[in-house]
Amino acid sequence: MKHLLKMLYLSREEIIDILNLADQLKYELKHNIPHPHLKGKSLGMIFQKASTRTRVSFETGMYQLGGNPMFLSSNDLQIGRGEPVQDTARVLSRYLDGIMIRTFEQKEVEDLAKYGSIPIINGLTDFCHPCQILADLMTIREFKGQFNGLKMCFIGDGNNMANSLIVGCLKVGMKVAVACPEGYHPDKQVLDFAAGYGDMFELTDSPLKAAENCDVIFTDVWASMGQEGEAEKRKIAFKGYQVNDEIMAVAKPDAMVQHCLPAHREEEITEKVFEAHAKEIFEEAENRLHAQKAVMVKLMG
Ligand code: CP
Ligand code: NVA
Repeated sequence: MKHLLKMLYLSREEIIDILNLADQLKYELKHNIPHPHLKGKSLGMIFQKASTRTRVSFETGMYQLGGNPMFLSSNDLQIGRGEPVQDTARVLSRYLDGIMIRTFEQKEVEDLAKYGSIPIINGLTDFCHPCQILADLMTIREFKGQFNGLKMCFIGDGNNMANSLIVGCLKVGMKVAVACPEGYHPDKQVLDFAAGYGDMFELTDSPLKAAENCDVIFTDVWASMGQEGEAEKRKIAFKGYQVNDEIMAVAKPDAMVQHCLPAHREEEITEKVFEAHAKEIFEEAENRLHAQKAVMVKLMG
């Protein structure tokens, strides 16, 4: 594994390896066991979109690994003034040991990897959010013990989260059911991949059907970063695609709820369901730190 660009590029073994290392790093952190695997290394973090979790967890994670995190706002970089990504990649490769980038187009992340000579980590694009899904899988395994035989459902927009979750959950052996309204389906590349999993994957327009008997329920905002202008239109399209008591009633009694955050209460999830499952949702947020540290050690160590 040379980069973390999208879940589609990872094998099941690579995913499990990252999760195992993440568990170990979490244990070491909780027990004050130092783990300076990246001493003397520098990570550049390019952000073309807002972030709370990704920025802080990468920055702290790099610090805990003994390395140097560098926040690079696109407003200040020449990339924000149009310097091509091919040139940025070749220049930054001469100073840094790795780059994390959050941006709009998946192609920009792939181009950084293509033209640069250091590991590239995708911190979210319009297409996918692999760092988040690694933390989600870590959290599911923590709460449920294993993946085999579990059913996960995703209710809402077929967005970057849905795209990565479908791939990640299928790869580790979970059943996946996705409920999206017409016109808001996951990416075709992802649906083509999922088609290879036969009845392990289901796409429906019925949230109740997707949630039936499931072990893990995911949702995400109806309007992602960059789609703010469509927020009102989307509120209408996603009416009925809310994780609420009705949905929880058809899931398994011990079903867990996951949300990558930020959450919009009373839109994609009710306040009541969110707060009833805050324990696993905030563990999920914490696990960003451990999962990403594992990714950095694998790629830059
Ligand atoms: N879940 C997530 O990626 O959060 P941020 O947008 O705050 O980084
Ligand atoms: N789908 C959301 C995820 C945020 C972490 C977005 O792209 O804004």
